[in-house]
Amino acid sequence: MSSSALDRYRATLIGLERKSRRRMLSPRHGIDFTSNDYLGLATSSRLAEAITAAIGQGIPAGAGGSRLLRGNHCVHEALETEAASFFGAESALYFGSGFAANVALFSCLPQRNDLIVYDALIHASVHDGISAGRAGAVAARHNDVEAFDRAIRDWRAGGAKGHPWLAVESLYSMDGDRAPLAELLAIAERHDGFLFVDEAHATGVLGTNGRGLASGLENSGRLLTLHTCGKALGVSGALLGLPDVLAGYMVNRARSFIYSTAPSPLMAAGIREALRIIEDEPERRHRLNALQGFVAELLRSKLGISPSGSQIQPIMIGDNARAVRIAARLQSEGFDIRAIRPPTVPEGTARLRLSITLNVDEEQIAAMIERLAVAIEEDRP
Ligand SMILES: Cc1ncc(COP(=O)(O)O)c(C=O)c1O
Repeated sequence: MSSSALDRYRATLIGLERKSRRRMLSPRHGIDFTSNDYLGLATSSRLAEAITAAIGQGIPAGAGGSRLLRGNHCVHEALETEAASFFGAESALYFGSGFAANVALFSCLPQRNDLIVYDALIHASVHDGISAGRAGAVAARHNDVEAFDRAIRDWRAGGAKGHPWLAVESLYSMDGDRAPLAELLAIAERHDGFLFVDEAHATGVLGTNGRGLASGLENSGRLLTLHTCGKALGVSGALLGLPDVLAGYMVNRARSFIYSTAPSPLMAAGIREALRIIEDEPERRHRLNALQGFVAELLRSKLGISPSGSQIQPIMIGDNARAVRIAARLQSEGFDIRAIRPPTVPEGTARLRLSITLNVDEEQIAAMIERLAVAIEEDRP
């Protein structure tokens, strides 16, 4: 169909294509060096059996309504109680996705006179929540504690009376580095504010017993955490850990919680089991740690790259087209590796994002790095 109303969308896609930024959906293919299924739980038999058992017990696939109406199933509440205790929070609230949880939180909790200071590399969902909310917001340079503090001091110097919110990821999704959480919490305390920690890539993997990197912090009522359930937990959805009063406030004010069908009770049953697996099977974390060490050694020796120190390892390329070419070459050789380009990462920092999971072994890792070294060498600018 040709229509001038559609032409502007076509023009955008053509523009993206020209800059090697057009994205396309493609089927799963090749050895997994890209998923966030860090502990291999998505295909674990224990998880499958728990969901099968839940079906057998009559737990429905669909909630049938919003949590505030008939959609509130006892399995949602059981999950929230267990998650609050697991993550060391007063309360937990369950959402259909991490994206929805972040939008709900940032559009609802920070108030009109508050200031959100967010890390420059924070996830898109936090940006969307901020845009939908009423508080002011300013970016701080990535992992620069002094920049967070300065932004709040400048704001206060202008006579501001509200409360500051610091927003960071504990383990950055595209860089694999960690936030200085203890220092950031101290800033939140000093300025009578809150620290929000998005644990999407740490939950299940890092911190004591896989409880996330914020789990070691003194929880003084100023800490809010997001634990996504679609990454290391192998299912889908997300749990916010937060003080009781804020959970109660969100149940009354967070529009995407109130005006949305509750997540599937079957998925909630799956997440309950995933939390138990995280607790009972520390060997999964140990194995991931060993694989990550193996990758780090090879990256250093074969590619001269300093490792990130986590299961997420960016291979910086810079140019969009070159990143896409190298990724496509590895894909054609049977390795599922994806190029990550702006706007997901800053302009000029296109990269390959290597994700290490229990879905691979040492032999596959060694073969991939061998081929990666060749592909990079043969595609020198
Ligand atoms: C840091 C971070 N926060 C939040 C999300 C959103 O979580 P979900 O995939 O459950 O919507 C993601 C997912 O990509 C993420 O990487």
